[in-house]
Amino acid sequence: MHTFQQLAETVKNYFNQESFTGTPNQLYEPIAYTLADGGKRIRPILLLAANELFGGNIESVRYAAIGIETFHNFTLLHDDLMDRSPVRRGKPTVYRKWNDNTAILSGDAMNILAWRYFLRTPHDNLQRILQTFEKTSMEICEGQQYDMNFESRDDVTIDEYMEMIRLKTAVLLGGALQIGALYANAPDNDIKHLYNFGIGIGLAFQLRDDLLDAFGNTATFGKQTGTDIRDNKKTYLFLRAIEKASPEQRQILMHLFSTNPENADNKIKEVLNIYSQLEIRNDVETRINELTNQAMHELDSISRPDEQKNTLRTIALSLLDRNV
Ligand code: IPE
Ligand code: IPE
Ligand code: MG
Ligand code: MG
Ligand code: MG
Repeated sequence: MHTFQQLAETVKNYFNQESFTGTPNQLYEPIAYTLADGGKRIRPILLLAANELFGGNIESVRYAAIGIETFHNFTLLHDDLMDRSPVRRGKPTVYRKWNDNTAILSGDAMNILAWRYFLRTPHDNLQRILQTFEKTSMEICEGQQYDMNFESRDDVTIDEYMEMIRLKTAVLLGGALQIGALYANAPDNDIKHLYNFGIGIGLAFQLRDDLLDAFGNTATFGKQTGTDIRDNKKTYLFLRAIEKASPEQRQILMHLFSTNPENADNKIKEVLNIYSQLEIRNDVETRINELTNQAMHELDSISRPDEQKNTLRTIALSLLDRNV
């Protein structure tokens, strides 16, 4: 069994050995720019770890790992355009460095490239693998649409929010794990628990992302902070704050989250101030811990020797603590 670090190194090598260049250059250069040295690559790492947990040889899922990460990066190109985010991984986002059309088309090409990678390795389970990938992809679109819909709604519930982040974020972690397991011919019952593990850590992961968007350090986080507040995103922080707020605080929050000022600095400051007064950080941390614990129980239920689950445990704990 490889450690988390070793798997991260393996994924890095897989990407270093790929070339994303092509003509027309205007289409491919943003793809290479995005995939060059970017991100935590948590999804391909999960895919490899799941494959190995069920006795797979990680070399056999090389292209599935590259495919899932290429797909993830496609969603980021479109997401940054939708969220008007200027910076990702400490670098200008594609629509900022080039333009909107480039982000759309290079993103589309990355989505297609992902399928090309998946089709590259024949396997008896390929039909199921591609069905998992197709279902996951569509659910992410659904989640992204709910995320956008919620910007202009003022009655979003925490349950609705949790379902939205399950779709936009958690299913890709669950899907990556499931695909890795399918390549290793894992039993269905184990795949179910593994998928649920992925959903749990995926929900926790998005809560951490929301927390970092509000309170993170741009230099380490690599993204501009405060954009969720600027965009009236109904995050767990906001929804929990509305629950805990005094009538006066609630009125201020509801008002601020119905505005779209040219310069959002004051809006962000005021909202963060209320979040701090209400100690929202603690609530989010508590929920992250609960979700991670539930995920760990799912991992415990998998019928593999306990010590072989350590890599997935380490990955889950690293997501719990991340500040990037
Ligand atoms: C960003 O994903 C989008 C979310 C689901 C929060 P990551 O935080 O995995 O982004 P990278 O790939 O590591 O940059
Ligand atoms: C992103 O959620 C989910 C997807 C990209 C599908 P966010 O919009 O919170 O992700 P970041 O913060 O821009 O990475
Ligand atoms: Mg975004
Ligand atoms: Mg978004
Ligand atoms: Mg975010």
